[in-house]
Amino acid sequence: MSPASNGRDPEGERSKGRLVVISNRVALPKESRAGGLAAAMQSALSETGGLWFGWSGRIVTPGSRELREQRDGNIEYALLDLTRAEYDAYYLGFANRTLWPLLHFQPNLVDYSREQHAGYLEVNKLFAQRLAPLLRKRDRVWVHDYHLIPLASELRKLGVEAPIGFFLHIPLPPAQLLNTLPGHEELFSTFGDYDLVGLQTKDDVRALHDYLREECGAKVERDGRVRMRDGRTFRSAAFPISIDTERVAKQAASAVRSAASERLRGSLEGRDLAIGIDRLDYSKGLPKRFEAFGRFLGTHPNWRAKVSFLQIAPPSRQEVPEYRELRTRLERMAGAINGRYAEPDWVPIRYVNRSFQHNTLAGFCRMSKLALVTPLRDGMNLVAKEYVAAQAPHDPGVLVLSHFAGAARELDSALCINPYDIDELVAAIERGLTMPLPERRERWQAMFDYLKEHDITAWRKAFLAALAQAMR
Ligand code: G6P
Repeated sequence: MSPASNGRDPEGERSKGRLVVISNRVALPKESRAGGLAAAMQSALSETGGLWFGWSGRIVTPGSRELREQRDGNIEYALLDLTRAEYDAYYLGFANRTLWPLLHFQPNLVDYSREQHAGYLEVNKLFAQRLAPLLRKRDRVWVHDYHLIPLASELRKLGVEAPIGFFLHIPLPPAQLLNTLPGHEELFSTFGDYDLVGLQTKDDVRALHDYLREECGAKVERDGRVRMRDGRTFRSAAFPISIDTERVAKQAASAVRSAASERLRGSLEGRDLAIGIDRLDYSKGLPKRFEAFGRFLGTHPNWRAKVSFLQIAPPSRQEVPEYRELRTRLERMAGAINGRYAEPDWVPIRYVNRSFQHNTLAGFCRMSKLALVTPLRDGMNLVAKEYVAAQAPHDPGVLVLSHFAGAARELDSALCINPYDIDELVAAIERGLTMPLPERRERWQAMFDYLKEHDITAWRKAFLAALAQAMR
């Protein structure tokens, strides 16, 4: 829907110049494997239109690199190929074996090498070189996530003067963890080349400020303006990302009658369904979740053969060893729990390693009595928000949510748990499955009302308004 047609954008985004979004992962039309960031940006960009620049998803031999340009509706795409060496060092290496575990509070999983670090900087430089010629006067540039932290610096070196904002989709840990990264000051001081740095929660903003003060000698004003030692300034604030609440609610209401939903409902034969939907990632707390569901069946024999747990976990980053190990571990755990408790006509855990269309998942959420969103650490977790949006108002399900997901800062009517405490998780599963309807309704209504107001449109507008203001 265009801003003009839904009446929610009286100022007219188009008069402000193009929005240029840059992210490593780009959601191409009708793609189901995009991940949280890309799906959210597709919603945001489809309202404003603009240019989306990122990795094409292709790995090519050196010399055959292309910049692939295409258009879908009001979004133009410019997609850059990477070589195998770039992909290995930048994406598999520094982004996903160094920054990802470090920023998710798991320094034990960090695998750092100078070569990968150099590859990361090279790809950022390459992105800047290929993007700069595409930029027009009055464009606003919005860079996303940990793959591209130094991009503004590289663009500034090429003379780009446009407003540039950055949004970090994942958490930011305290300075004592950030400073374990070799070359951390050089990397994180490139925030100084942005006009605005957005993070998911106030905790993340506090971590950024503490780090910049302690490690980079920066000064932080009360309004979030940061002055770096060399005089560069930028604004920083929390912008909790969200979903297109009304669209998810509508999708769920119609998808619950789709053939896929009917098949799932038929297979349950009247039993309750609990659901988990996560990329197969160690930050999502899946082994503890499986353990908790197994313990729940062990300690609550009356629930055996009465509830099934559907875990949808599309594999991701399978070239990274920690992700392959997690996959093997979860296969073993699901097998062991199912072997122990299954009946000839009932399987406790339905473990599915593939991705589904967004609306199919919305239908599955609506028919689930319980959602288990139990990451050990998560920037936001949009599945938590989508589960709430997908519920039937007359008979909503219950959200069990980790304290350590950014979403817990907003969805405080969920059953909030510490995912490290398996017994607490077991108790929440029981409480969720037996919660009386009036309590379910009350909790759901509070969260749904909040999400109707704080949706993806509000998020995009808040960030872009702050970017415009930071320029002034
Ligand atoms: C998280 C990250 C995104 C990423 C997505 C999918 O949501 O914050 O930047 O795109 O995971 O991961 P992938 O490595 O497949 O892009």
